[in-house]
Amino acid sequence: MKIIIINGPNLNLLGKREPEVYGDETFEDFYFLMKNKYNTVDLHYFQSNIEGEIINKIQEIGFSYDGIILNAAAYTHTSVAIADAVKAITTPVIEVHISNTFSRESFRHQSYISPNAKGIIIGFGLKSYELAIKAFL
Ligand code: DQA
Repeated sequence: MKIIIINGPNLNLLGKREPEVYGDETFEDFYFLMKNKYNTVDLHYFQSNIEGEIINKIQEIGFSYDGIILNAAAYTHTSVAIADAVKAITTPVIEVHISNTFSRESFRHQSYISPNAKGIIIGFGLKSYELAIKAFL
């Protein structure tokens, strides 16, 4: 099973960024743990702060991988272009968020990704990504 985690803007700062909201673990550490724990999964990771790069990656792997775990971060709430990319591909997408976006500002309650996601996992910290791996398995 070939799965990729795609992280959007500012998620490269996990561990340093607002630790009271996003925790104090770096994504690289967490990803390493997941690679070891789910070593039968061909797990990949991509992060970009740039909308077009996220779209390019979704297009590049969206007809061959078995699953995409997508945290588009702030682009979740703004990007019609990423939503269209998710709609255009055949690989199923699970939308994840670290924080419970519904308990935060109202602009975070809207997601352009959700209507075309296979499922949504929100608010379990980095565990949200692990739950998405398990869902694909
Ligand atoms: C986030 C929630 C978004 O609202 C925010 O812009 C992020 C991270 C999350 O994982 O909780 O950058 O996607």
